[in-house]
Amino acid sequence: MSDKDRLIIFDTTLRDGEQSPGATMNQEEKLRIAKALERLRVDVIEAGFAIASPGDFNSIKSISETIKDSRICSLARAADADIDRAAEALKSANAPRIHTFIATSPIHMKYKLRMEPDQVLERAVAAVKRARNLVDDVEFSCEDAGRSELDFMCRIIEAAIDAGASTINIPDTVGYALPHQFGELISQLLNRIPNADKAVFSVHCHNDLGLAVANSSAAVMAGARQVECTINGLGERAGNASLEELVMTVATRHDAFPVYTNIKTEEIVPCSRLVSTITGFPVQPNKAIVGANAFAHEAGIHQDGVLKHRETYEIMRAEKVGWAANRMVLGKHSGRAAFADRLDSLGVKFETKEALNVAFAKFKELADKKHEIFDEDLHALVSDTHRTSGVHIKLVDLSVSSIMGETPKAEISLHVEDKEHSAEAKGSGPVDATFKAIEEIMHSGTKLLLYSVNAITSGTDSQGEVTVRLEKNGRVVNGSGADTDIVIASAKAYLDALTLILANPKKAHPQNEGV
Ligand code: KIV
Ligand code: ZN
Repeated sequence: MSDKDRLIIFDTTLRDGEQSPGATMNQEEKLRIAKALERLRVDVIEAGFAIASPGDFNSIKSISETIKDSRICSLARAADADIDRAAEALKSANAPRIHTFIATSPIHMKYKLRMEPDQVLERAVAAVKRARNLVDDVEFSCEDAGRSELDFMCRIIEAAIDAGASTINIPDTVGYALPHQFGELISQLLNRIPNADKAVFSVHCHNDLGLAVANSSAAVMAGARQVECTINGLGERAGNASLEELVMTVATRHDAFPVYTNIKTEEIVPCSRLVSTITGFPVQPNKAIVGANAFAHEAGIHQDGVLKHRETYEIMRAEKVGWAANRMVLGKHSGRAAFADRLDSLGVKFETKEALNVAFAKFKELADKKHEIFDEDLHALVSDTHRTSGVHIKLVDLSVSSIMGETPKAEISLHVEDKEHSAEAKGSGPVDATFKAIEEIMHSGTKLLLYSVNAITSGTDSQGEVTVRLEKNGRVVNGSGADTDIVIASAKAYLDALTLILANPKKAHPQNEGV
């Protein structure tokens, strides 16, 4: 196949994915995910929205300095300040891209932007020209394209290409499109816009009706050559098109799709696990490709068929997407060098010797409890180490009694801003008692929205990975914690979420007007 048959994979886990309520990631975590995306051979990494916050800016900057094989992109509204900030954050990137956008649907132009279509067109052209003066690669998006008028889109896209945009993105921002209509929209745009051949057409579909992958696939059939997607389908509201589903659809049904991707599919499952550990968003067991059951054959008749001839019930091989049978990497006797080396290959670098020592001590503690240490354990351990260093709340001691027929009780000691506090509480279960005891000390005023436990690996000696989602004054955060003792993991996750919510960083949302 020729280069024009290549489907460009644009990953927006770090930008749209982070807009999922609670999926906030810090700079180190974003860099770790960016390295995993580079190993996956993603073509474009949308690393963030530079003007949103100093944290976003610094993340884009460090990703630009580190990642050399993927193109690095920053989002920017069609406003001078946004574009300048994006260019600044991307300064060190090998291949920088500015992605600028403005809404084009009648409902968004009238009620959100309060602008006439001609003013929107003028703003779009000015934004593309400004971005084009700062970088060579500019993408322009018509926000809410799925509900925009075709004639107006043709006009604004033609002008954006003339102004220098080399990628034109058609987002179904609210997840309203249907596959046959969305495919038809792409065909119409490609046929009607006179300079359409000067740009790559891209799509960015949201999953509000569960159609994001189907809509993106229809667009590819119609001629789109870039898809915007996220690992595990993370993203605003119901999420974005899932990278793993799109990539494996194209690979498995190459008989039907006129395109190929550069993705190294064996890296899909490790990348999915990493994103899940860092964001605290568990992957549902029946999720296509990356769910724990995606290749499990429960029914006897299926197992029999698979044993006789694999293809009877399997359309792709588990190994092809990174479900390796044995991923045991380290054990009790592994030394510091092997530990650092394995983490290095997972994209984790320790800034100081002390940070490495802290992580190594935790590893030894874990290896005493659990004989086989897997990559997933290392990711959880490193997330724990990074998140808890430098925070002001630390778990010092926890003792829980859970006796059949008696009310569970927890006694806890915390270090809060250098002072030690202790409390005890009773609850309906050991975790409830632990959270109540923490609140006896913290009085945080937060509301618990979600509590979930997952085993990181198989076996009863596995670490439990706990996610706690808290809400305060409309802000939602996810905290995570891992330990072979799930009550301790729960306490860590609760404290992690409290630390995040009490830090209260203010962040602009790209779809809000005004800088
Ligand atoms: O969904 C959307 O429209 C977006 C744009 C900013 C591309 O995320
Ligand atoms: Zn989006």
